[in-house]
Amino acid sequence: MSNTPSTIYLKDYTPPAYLVDSVALDIAIHVGFAFVSSRLTMRRNPAGADAALVLNGEDLQLESLKLDGRTLGANDFLYADDLLTIHQAPEAFLLETVVRIEPDQNTQLSGLYRSKDGYFTQCEAQGFRRITFYPDRPDVLAKFECTLHADKTAFPILLANGNPVASGSEDDNRHWATWEDPFAKPAYLFACVAAKLDVIEDHYVTSSGRRVRCAVYVEPGKLDQCDHAIAALKKSMKWDEDVFGLEMDLDHYMIVAVGDFNMGAMENKGLNIFNTKYVLARPDTATDTDYQNIDRVVAHEYFHNWTGNRVTCRDWFQLSLKEGLTVFRDQQFGMDVHSAGVTRIQEVRTLRAAQFPEDAGPMAHPIRPESYAEINNFYTATVYEKGAEVIRMIHTLIGKDAFRKGMDLYFARHDGQAVTCEDFVAAMQDASGLDLTQFKRWYSQAGTPRLVVRSRFDAATRRYTLEVEQVFAHTPYEDRMAADGLPQARGPYHLPIVLGLLDADGRELPLQLVGESNATGSQRTLQLREAQQTFIFENIDAEPVPSLLRGFSAPVVLDYPYSTADLVHLMAYDRDAVNRWEAGQRLATDILLAGVTAFQQGTGETTGWIPQDYILAMARLLGAAFVEGGGPALVAEALVLPSENVLAEQMGVVDPDAIHAARLALRRTLARELREPLLAAYFELKDEAPYSPEGAQAGKRALRNACLGYLAELNELSAQALVIGHFETAGNMTDSIAALAAVANLDIPARHALLDSFYSKWRDEALVVDKWLQVQATSRLPGTTQDVRALMAHESFDIRNPNKVYSLLRAFCAANPQHFHAADGSGYKLAADVILQLDPLNPQVASRIARTFDRWKKFDPVRQRQARAQLERIRAQENLSSDVAEVVGKALD
Ligand code: PHE
Ligand code: ZN
Repeated sequence: MSNTPSTIYLKDYTPPAYLVDSVALDIAIHVGFAFVSSRLTMRRNPAGADAALVLNGEDLQLESLKLDGRTLGANDFLYADDLLTIHQAPEAFLLETVVRIEPDQNTQLSGLYRSKDGYFTQCEAQGFRRITFYPDRPDVLAKFECTLHADKTAFPILLANGNPVASGSEDDNRHWATWEDPFAKPAYLFACVAAKLDVIEDHYVTSSGRRVRCAVYVEPGKLDQCDHAIAALKKSMKWDEDVFGLEMDLDHYMIVAVGDFNMGAMENKGLNIFNTKYVLARPDTATDTDYQNIDRVVAHEYFHNWTGNRVTCRDWFQLSLKEGLTVFRDQQFGMDVHSAGVTRIQEVRTLRAAQFPEDAGPMAHPIRPESYAEINNFYTATVYEKGAEVIRMIHTLIGKDAFRKGMDLYFARHDGQAVTCEDFVAAMQDASGLDLTQFKRWYSQAGTPRLVVRSRFDAATRRYTLEVEQVFAHTPYEDRMAADGLPQARGPYHLPIVLGLLDADGRELPLQLVGESNATGSQRTLQLREAQQTFIFENIDAEPVPSLLRGFSAPVVLDYPYSTADLVHLMAYDRDAVNRWEAGQRLATDILLAGVTAFQQGTGETTGWIPQDYILAMARLLGAAFVEGGGPALVAEALVLPSENVLAEQMGVVDPDAIHAARLALRRTLARELREPLLAAYFELKDEAPYSPEGAQAGKRALRNACLGYLAELNELSAQALVIGHFETAGNMTDSIAALAAVANLDIPARHALLDSFYSKWRDEALVVDKWLQVQATSRLPGTTQDVRALMAHESFDIRNPNKVYSLLRAFCAANPQHFHAADGSGYKLAADVILQLDPLNPQVASRIARTFDRWKKFDPVRQRQARAQLERIRAQENLSSDVAEVVGKALD
């Protein structure tokens, strides 16, 4: 079938036949087209295969091709199927090409493309081949020089990687600039920009005294939204020096914000290109979460300078080598600059909401997959978030100091190289002395393991026994591998179980394993290696409550038969913030699943399934917000019930209506029962200080808005007045959007007025309009699907802009399960319409929407029929991209 993309295998990796020593690019941007001339100094790779010279090229119009100055004729080369093959290349030579490209027509946003304020590039993973002919693979490292030419008035800013070395004017009101990058790099890290932008400049002096110019370039008029990004950059530079001894290695570090961008941001050497969403912030336009995300994304891209750029990936199967590690680093940074507990809780929530379902669905893959059809489909929660969890486990197993030694060794061995995940693990193993052979299974096995833990207490021997069993999920990935003749040998994982044992008063017990002469500490890191393993603790007087997997020490599903009393106990006393939160989530999940059954049986509304103990525990929690350590931010996290999608994962056959009903009923019950403490907290937490996104103040706002959210569930005019008042008096975007989101769920006359006034106030701030679209897309009100369709025709919507598509459509499909999974198929139909319209324009974004069908087989036969019909309709589209074809093909398998 024409829509079946071909598969690429890790096992087929061969080193490049030719290397590039240096690249000189000359990019001349004209109205409607650009000429790209490239001069590649190349030579045969002594370690490579004796193969022909093959360069990648996509959507390029070849104008001229010269080898060592000689123009090649039709018999000397072949350009077909996105490959340029040059017959009979010598050992070493200069290859000169000139191509014509059309950046204004480039709606994929990969390669060189037009956005409102000018021209921008995106080359990861395979965009460079859309700019010029090149061996476009990460293990070809070369020194780059780039000259840009463009109209002086329309595009006054000309940027590329490295240092500016020359510039000047030319005829027809044009100008040019040359940039030189002193570091060899793979083509995916190339970037250039020709645009009209404002710039804010600052500098950072590194620990060895290098003065780095830090610059943030943004759309004209937006300089008042850059302060936070530039502060985040300087914080990141300091942090990487302090924690890992890693310094900035260039004189210029530039961040360019662009409104049209498929992803979050890109770590191009010295010239990061960012989605505006992760740069621009002002208290009245950005929420506390936006500010935090900016910190994290700026840090992430900066940290890539070492983990990704100085040491890069041998091939794209190794993507987690740079992404898992860099996410881990930005997480650690987040824990250091923000509240550690809150940060970790949010990561666990993301992992459960995005990665666990991926690991259980048709796209399941290990953090290092063995095969893919379209690499763009593998920038996944698994490669990023689970990849980070795998690094975190190494950190937990060997400890912080050995981890730092391992990083030092990794850089000592591999600086300037393109390496594999094995190389990273080897450095960690050699630095720590811990055998990580078994640990490497985390890189090759897909699926989320279940840890089944059972405990036994023996009063006579005063022993407490934990029996741990690893249960593996079977995934379609294994079937695919077996079908490809690559059967997977599965085996138990090596993982850390961080734990403590709590007595009846909530105190931690000293821990002494059998065979140890005395107790050491009250928190231990157990190393699990066996499929079944037993841990016996001695000198235990009474049966404790175990606090298992503290800090979420491994990315697994924990199956332990906690009683309601155990969970209430942990909620109150566990000293581990993650497990305190986790206990509440477990309890809520148990209750909600009982509620789902009740709704299915028609008895849901009576709320007899909501135990009073839970309400009391939540009341206590709310009361603790002002006294105990951790404070409001952690309580705010605890007030968030497990999402509908996370609950769906717990069910054999998902019933989205019952899940929605149960969750809403629990929210309403909590609102009614905790009315007084919620109101008291709401008024108490009002902050008169000038806005700051920093932890303490943001935490108070988070809790206050969580309280408001509950109060909005009360079907009372006074509660509605409170929400409307909150909106009208909000002094920052965090508060206004919290109120607007609450109102968007209410069928009250004020709803339209508030939405309208918000839009007219913010119609010129694209990122704020995105929020406006999102609160409507995630509304629970009937008619939301129709509203979303109508919004697609609204003046503010543009299907070519990824942020708009994500805010309106991905939000609808991924965060509004009740409507997306409507039994009449209307949600699926909407999604399929969008995917089909988007695929010819921007396959990467279309494919991300298509992923929202992943879990369709978990639903009832009626819904499955509806989903299948839409998936088949998509698959039948002519010239479907390999991106969407892979996702839909795997879903239908
Ligand atoms: N490498 C980028 C990051 O993680 C993500 C990205 C991938 C951006 C592909 C664009 C294209 O920071
Ligand atoms: Zn990254």
